Amino acid sequence: MGLPKLILASIAILFLGGYTNGIDMESARERSCFWIGNTVPVDMDWVDSIDTLYYPAMSKMELYRAAVDITGEDPENISEDSVHNNSCFYWKIHHNGTMRGRGFGGESKEYKTTFDRPNKFDFRPAEGEGYSGTAYVTLTDNSTFIFTPICTDEGEMAWGVTSTVPRLPERTMNRIYEHAKSLGFKKQYFANVNYENCDVGGANGRSEATPATVPTPSRNRKVPGRNSGRWHARNQY
Ligand SMILES: *[C@@H]1O[C@H](CO)[C@@H](O)[C@H](O)[C@H]1NC(C)=O
Ligand SMILES: *[C@@H]1O[C@H](CO)[C@@H](O)[C@H](O)[C@H]1NC(C)=O
Ligand SMILES: *[C@@H]1O[C@H](CO)[C@@H](O)[C@H](O)[C@H]1NC(C)=O
Ligand SMILES: *[C@@H]1O[C@H](CO)[C@@H](O)[C@H](O)[C@H]1NC(C)=O
Repeated sequence: MGLPKLILASIAILFLGGYTNGIDMESARERSCFWIGNTVPVDMDWVDSIDTLYYPAMSKMELYRAAVDITGEDPENISEDSVHNNSCFYWKIHHNGTMRGRGFGGESKEYKTTFDRPNKFDFRPAEGEGYSGTAYVTLTDNSTFIFTPICTDEGEMAWGVTSTVPRLPERTMNRIYEHAKSLGFKKQYFANVNYENCDVGGANGRSEATPATVPTPSRNRKVPGRNSGRWHARNQY
């Protein structure tokens, strides 16, 4: 490559770089799957009584994979703003072995969850390809939250804490964060969903969660049926 071409190529890379503000999956990569030995059983009668699960905290990988799989977008077309705090991401529990992840500006996707024991379950899209893996219960109070480390089928470790309330008490959150750290998860990869500006439906989930920041159409052009890419993602319990 001659010098002028090299300079042009460098300028093109700088130009593209400057316009990329999508989510960076590499930045979310924390650890490969590791052995989870200290699982605890969750009260399945309680689980069966739940209709809506909020998702107050998770690892960045979990949030990003969910965003990619539920929206069907390429990571570079999903803005950081629309996932961090503003996703209104929550779970609607169906009582037929599936749950539907909702958020990211009115998107949703159904996942099949299979409990083989009350402390471990597999998840995968109810239809087609996408985010799948195994979640382990390692902390729960059997009344407000369930903490699950997640080994994705791509071999990456993630985690999430689902909750029956949009906001857990600070004491509980601190206990959860300490637990996450004790398993080896790092604070720099912690992510949150903040429901303050969300309209999550009641027990029947009639209304959609709406994002506080509506993603701009040009950056989030929806391609129907598109769900592949290097990073197919998503779910949890
Ligand atoms: C949760 O419920 C399960 C099943 O009843 C029980 O074995 C477990 O000890 C309970 N955990 C807590 C923290 O209460
Ligand atoms: C991402 O955005 C670019 C530019 O608008 C577009 O060409 C591409 O098809 C989009 N990808 C997806 C999966 O929507
Ligand atoms: C999300 O909100 C929490 C609580 O308000 C805040 O501490 C955190 O910095 C926010 N994260 C981002 C990425 O904006
Ligand atoms: C499970 O129930 C939901 C809500 O009634 C329904 O939309 C969905 O199609 C069902 N899924 C399966 C796999 O039966």
